[in-house]
Amino acid sequence: MTTTIPGAYLHPKLDVQLLRDIIHPDRDLWTPRELRELTSTVAAELTSPLLEVLEYSAERRWWVRLGLTTGVELWLLSWLPGQGTEPHDHGGAAGSFTVLTGELAEDYRYPGGPVRSAARPVGSALGFGAGRAHQVVNRGPVGAASVHAYSPPLVPTREYPSLADVPDVIEALPAQRLPLDQLDLLTELEGP
Ligand SMILES: [Fe+2]
Repeated sequence: MTTTIPGAYLHPKLDVQLLRDIIHPDRDLWTPRELRELTSTVAAELTSPLLEVLEYSAERRWWVRLGLTTGVELWLLSWLPGQGTEPHDHGGAAGSFTVLTGELAEDYRYPGGPVRSAARPVGSALGFGAGRAHQVVNRGPVGAASVHAYSPPLVPTREYPSLADVPDVIEALPAQRLPLDQLDLLTELEGP
């Protein structure tokens, strides 16, 4: 992936003016609302290039990075029926996802709260802050795809045996405050 504008790496197929305008390379920390705006705008306005890039993998969930700055990482993920995550938190990062195709099922929990479940059909867009844990699964009969963003980028997730095991206080993990080229290498290695 090449640097297409100062301070940002964009996927070649997504290197369009709209994404250049909304990736905000100078924005250091994104709020859940800003992340939600980013993933929902990308899913709604860049549907055609996203579908061109989209693949599915029977081996595991598939993903490709759409964009990276020192403040945010943006991903496209796909989920075949039955594919999903383990219960996890985002290590203190804020996050967002918008469903592009298909439907996802999300079980989630805020600190100390009950486990809740929700269907996330096409167009569902949500943003969340540091204290939330969730498990996302495609329980539908067809593949699903979703656009995700996290800020700061590259904060490790933590997995749990179940959402009931998530502690009441989710401690923030240190962010990788690295130059963009080093973040680039790490995200390519580690994925979303
Ligand atoms: Fe997650």
